[in-house]
Amino acid sequence: MSEPSNQRHFPRQAECNPYDVAIETIDVSDPDLFQTDTQAAYFKRLRDEAPVHYLADSAFGPFWSITRYQDIFDVDSNHDLYSSEPAIVIGDQKEEFTLKQFIAMDPPKHDTQRKVVQPVVGPKNLAMMEPLIRQRVQEILDDLPVGETFDWVDRVSIELTTRMLATLFDFPFEDRRKLTYWSDMATASPEIAGDTSVSSEQRQAALMECLEVFTELWNDRINREPGERLDFITLMAHDKDMRKMEPLEYLGNLVLLIVGGNDTTRNSISGGVLALNQNPGEYQKLQQNPGLIPNMVSEIIRWQTPLTHMRRLAKQDTELHGQQIHAGDKVVMWYVSGNRDERVIERPDEFIIDRPKARQHLSFGFGVHRCMGNRLGEMQLRIVWEEIMQRFSKVEVVEEPSRVRSNFVRGFSNMPVRLHAH
Ligand code: HEM
Repeated sequence: MSEPSNQRHFPRQAECNPYDVAIETIDVSDPDLFQTDTQAAYFKRLRDEAPVHYLADSAFGPFWSITRYQDIFDVDSNHDLYSSEPAIVIGDQKEEFTLKQFIAMDPPKHDTQRKVVQPVVGPKNLAMMEPLIRQRVQEILDDLPVGETFDWVDRVSIELTTRMLATLFDFPFEDRRKLTYWSDMATASPEIAGDTSVSSEQRQAALMECLEVFTELWNDRINREPGERLDFITLMAHDKDMRKMEPLEYLGNLVLLIVGGNDTTRNSISGGVLALNQNPGEYQKLQQNPGLIPNMVSEIIRWQTPLTHMRRLAKQDTELHGQQIHAGDKVVMWYVSGNRDERVIERPDEFIIDRPKARQHLSFGFGVHRCMGNRLGEMQLRIVWEEIMQRFSKVEVVEEPSRVRSNFVRGFSNMPVRLHAH
């Protein structure tokens, strides 16, 4: 692999007009674009002029970008042609530290493993968890200072998703911030997402610590009868196939379940606050009719698109929009672009909380890998907004938020807000 991405672009793409750049040089894997939130115009140009776009040289090697809604749907639905192995982000993992996880496996093994853990986020367990999630949301919101500036990301979005994660794993509650830390480390590093603040050695060390802690929990659970409320570790430890997993496969699946439930929901919680502040008319609609919350939740998830992409490898030569894709090529489905595709979604750049067909978006993917925790993510966001509306007339964003430097997780590192009482 070539050098990490940071200094590759001069002048920075984020400061250029996307229409002044030679189209074959456009590099939408540049994490700078996402940190500065300047990616949208680049994607619009690709959708219009080169919907199947090849970049011959990037910090992550050559790759195809798929940017239209329907094409993304087609690629995501065709796992016979487009493989999820060995990884689902643009960057490659180091060979000696390759995590195995079912999001990065093809059927049949993918299907077997997914089936084992799915009951944790199935309807019965969700119904059982709802009161606990609501109670944890209430505790967090009741503790917030009204009229003072504080960071919404840390005090609400992170805290809430971390408490929820601790619940899903039945992880020691007082150590829950470790889950946040491991999740952040798992998605960081230059090779994987273009984040240069964390080296791959630091990432590896953090993940090995994660494995150690979870191995103790595994050893404890394997000897215990499962309780009524299900948790991920117990389900894996008591399954006849998954109990034979190698350590790096256990770690890989842990990372999947931690990241899956963490960055995504966290950034949708923050993204919703920002979207409502940028669209005061929509905030007013919500204040007048909190019944719009379930529909708004889907619109938030579309508008934020907390995971920008998933990557596949072509298994055979194929053709798409007249472009020859060869076996072994990386094919990146940019959900963040498909969710703004005017061919399928009306007024896609607008945030409309009562949008008809709001669930029609790509943020959860499609096909056999479609997000396993989508109902849980939606449920958490619904509860958060129900409880916010009961307590505060407004969550006001008082300074420009800072965004994460990653081409994979689209999110916020900091969002200063002030709460207004009713
Ligand atoms: C707003 C919230 C969420 C978003 C936007 C989101 C997004 C995604 C996406 C894009 C995929 C890949 C889909 C594909 O390849 O077609 C995925 C898979 C997955 N998600 Fe989520 N996710 C969210 C919440 C959650 C939660 C709360 C969990 C709970 C643990 C979770 C667990 C998973 C798992 C386990 C997979 C792998 C599924 C498979 O490979 O079969 N997600 N998610």
